[in-house]
Amino acid sequence: QQYAIGVDIGGTNTKYGIVNHRGDISHSGRMSTSEFLTAEAFVAALYSAILPAIDAVGVENIKGIGVGAPNANYFTGSIEHAPNLNWKGIVPFARLISERFHLPCSITNDANAAAVGEMMYGAAKGMKDFIVITLGTGVGSGIVTSGHLIYGHDGFAGELGHTVVRHGGRQHWSTEIYGSLEAYASATGIAITAREMIAGADKQSLLKQYPLEEIDSKAVYECAMKGDEIAKEVYRFTGQILGEALANFVMFSSPEAIILFGGVTKAGNLIMDPVREHMEKNLLAVFRNKVMLTFSELKEADAAILGASALVWEIKR
Ligand code: BGC
Ligand code: NA
Repeated sequence: QQYAIGVDIGGTNTKYGIVNHRGDISHSGRMSTSEFLTAEAFVAALYSAILPAIDAVGVENIKGIGVGAPNANYFTGSIEHAPNLNWKGIVPFARLISERFHLPCSITNDANAAAVGEMMYGAAKGMKDFIVITLGTGVGSGIVTSGHLIYGHDGFAGELGHTVVRHGGRQHWSTEIYGSLEAYASATGIAITAREMIAGADKQSLLKQYPLEEIDSKAVYECAMKGDEIAKEVYRFTGQILGEALANFVMFSSPEAIILFGGVTKAGNLIMDPVREHMEKNLLAVFRNKVMLTFSELKEADAAILGASALVWEIKR
């Protein structure tokens, strides 16, 4: 039996697992991404975390390691200028991994990995045209048209999180772009929206029990679940912006489905209802009520682990 290691690197956390040819995941685990200040330190910690799993299945049975990461380039194996990672500049990530693990490594954009995972094992099985939008620390996308993932000229196609969706909108915390989708629809953006709303609110809110700077997306989620009006308003506002953006993306590539993936989707209908409403409202009639809008069916992050591991089967060495 041959195995692949699949790794999904997010801005805050990293998840990994050992995957077989059928897409069964074992030995899965997670660790922090953000606590490591350099890629080298992160790779060393990742190696220590995965080593017991490698020993359990036997290193001779592992064909390689596939990684999905923000701002990763499948063509070059590097991570370049990632806005939500501590390591800046151009990092030869696939090389760092293969040197440490003594295994071949292939790396791709995390949202692209999620799209491949959905196509092979998830909600997009049998589809040729769909978009996966990942809503986590950042916002990413994997765009599949006519059965092919779009890479573009440089390999960075699908940075939909950094498209401008609000004229004169807020500046992103680590890019020069004002009003980008990520500045609003990411977990980070949701926290900023909540702080802004609370700072200007006379109304009572469960969110007021937190010091302003400690309001994060988890607090918003928990308060919204308890019925808090301001917390629910944060999701309506976020959902409207995301829905309008999705309408643009639909008209760009005419997908059969849009699959939402990542931590923010935990909010369920609180986010889905406004997203659907504002997507449909902003579509040209020919597109209306045709696009399937859904959450990933796979467990949290499994799509990205599976898609990353699928890269390994293509490694020729
Ligand atoms: C990055 C994307 C990534 C997304 C989700 C964005 O900030 O630019 O490459 O897919 O975050 O991690
Ligand atoms: Na992408």
